[in-house]
Amino acid sequence: MRVSAILSALLACGLGAATPSKRQPGPSHPLLEWSEPPPTPQLIPAFQAKIDWDLDNNHTIQTPSGLRCSWWSREGYWYDAEGRRFGEILRANDDGIVTDGTTPGTRYLELLITYVVRLDDGYWAYVTHTGGAIVRQYQNGVVRVETDSPTYSWLNRIDFVAPGSFNGTEVMTVNHYFPNPDNLPNGLPGTAPNATRIG
Ligand SMILES: *[C@@H]1O[C@H](CO)[C@@H](O)[C@H](O)[C@H]1NC(C)=O
Ligand SMILES: *[C@@H]1O[C@H](CO)[C@@H](O)[C@H](O)[C@H]1NC(C)=O
Ligand SMILES: *[C@@H]1O[C@H](CO)[C@@H](O)[C@H](O)[C@H]1NC(C)=O
Repeated sequence: MRVSAILSALLACGLGAATPSKRQPGPSHPLLEWSEPPPTPQLIPAFQAKIDWDLDNNHTIQTPSGLRCSWWSREGYWYDAEGRRFGEILRANDDGIVTDGTTPGTRYLELLITYVVRLDDGYWAYVTHTGGAIVRQYQNGVVRVETDSPTYSWLNRIDFVAPGSFNGTEVMTVNHYFPNPDNLPNGLPGTAPNATRIG
């Protein structure tokens, strides 16, 4: 009797906490209410990066944040959606924290990749690639590009969805996708697949 009274009291407390109270008023405007999201967008390939990482030549440093591993690349390239090479990757670094992660027998890496690209129009691009990875296997991440190249200015306006895989080698293949080609941010025209053919 007593136990069940305590349990129902706890349950009531629990439910009470989850129920909106007067201290958490709802939206003040109907437009702030939930609305049906658009149908799942289809990802459209934007470009591909191939990076040859010098995996065994790393610095592994114990820090207050954890075990920080620093790798750098030997060589790398950007290809557009049709396979044309349009950039050379210089000086790629990955300086993430490595942990044991949750998948048995693997190590988890917080991706912290930055690199510089020499574009084929002579301009430079600076690239930040963040996300998470299983060391030496695969990764999921987001890529942001900064460049003042007029030809490739569209690269600045998108956070590319960028899954990648080592496929048993030291060469990482990262495919970059437009997150939503029908409704790109900041007024980018909906002809993004054609934009990769510019130049
Ligand atoms: C760093 O390189 C060493 C070889 O020098 C290798 O044994 C080790 O696995 C590398 N670290 C990671 C996290 O891959
Ligand atoms: C992975 O490697 C295999 C064997 O070399 C190859 O057949 C396959 O095409 C590769 N996959 C990717 C995504 O590179
Ligand atoms: C790409 O450009 C061509 C020629 O301008 C056009 O016909 C085609 O519809 C465009 N494709 C896309 C996906 O926008």
